Amino acid sequence: MTDNGDPLIVADDVYAGYIPGVTILNGCSLEVHQGELVGIIGPNGAGKSTLLKALFGLVPVSEGTFTLAGEDITNMRADQLVKQGIGFVPQTNNVFPTLSIEENLEMGAYQRPKAFRERMEVVGDLFPVLIERKSQRAGSLSGGERQMLAMARALMMDPKVLLLDEPSAGLSPARQDETFVRTREINRTGVTVIMVEQNARRCLQICDRGYVLDQGTAAYSAEGRALLKDPKVIELYLGTLGA
Ligand SMILES: Nc1ncnc2c1ncn2[C@@H]1O[C@H](COP(=O)(O)OP(=O)(O)OP(=O)(O)O)[C@@H](O)[C@H]1O
Ligand SMILES: [Mg+2]
Repeated sequence: MTDNGDPLIVADDVYAGYIPGVTILNGCSLEVHQGELVGIIGPNGAGKSTLLKALFGLVPVSEGTFTLAGEDITNMRADQLVKQGIGFVPQTNNVFPTLSIEENLEMGAYQRPKAFRERMEVVGDLFPVLIERKSQRAGSLSGGERQMLAMARALMMDPKVLLLDEPSAGLSPARQDETFVRTREINRTGVTVIMVEQNARRCLQICDRGYVLDQGTAAYSAEGRALLKDPKVIELYLGTLGA
């Protein structure tokens, strides 16, 4: 973790929801520093995806602010946020199934076509399989390969911050593990990562810090490994084998 003082991303008392008058995020606050890998865990329906979508301009924020390097980005459009250096890999429908791997990666770089070759090299180093199979249609990839492609597509824009929504969901244990290893590798190249995960234990093992989200509020935060040992987190999210 390289931290030069001020946080890179701040959520300050954010309220957001899909229907006017019905908030899903209820005063959610968190801070993510440059170079950190931050995990967000919590029960189904806690608002984890909503938090990432609100940060990425896809769910309207009614109160509170999001800032990126001190600049207000609240309710900014997603395409503008991409230009500001935020990459988002949604929980579902995160590749174009009828397009090839290469075409998907081109779509990822559509705002910076000149950088395409250079980014392809960086992304190819992280995910060599994708380059070997670049003409394969994304719709024919396995779940794990598809998740890799979705991450690779987001990385084509050379983001400062990558938002990942449940990258390991629906994958076999071996593939889940690969996703966590890749996420850590991406983070080590200098990309700040905010990762929502249903595999709470594995997520807390690899992240620098974790937040537990409950009913749209960040209930508590600590170092990933400290949360793994927190009796309340064990009881609620990790089961009895958490210790
Ligand atoms: N498009 C939508 N319109 C209305 N309500 C929505 C929409 N998407 C999500 N919600 C509601 O917002 C709440 C939080 O959903 P969200 O998807 O953020 O939870 P989550 O923590 O990501 O859950 P999971 O672990 O199941 O992915 C839920 O009550 C859900 O029904
Ligand atoms: Mg979700």
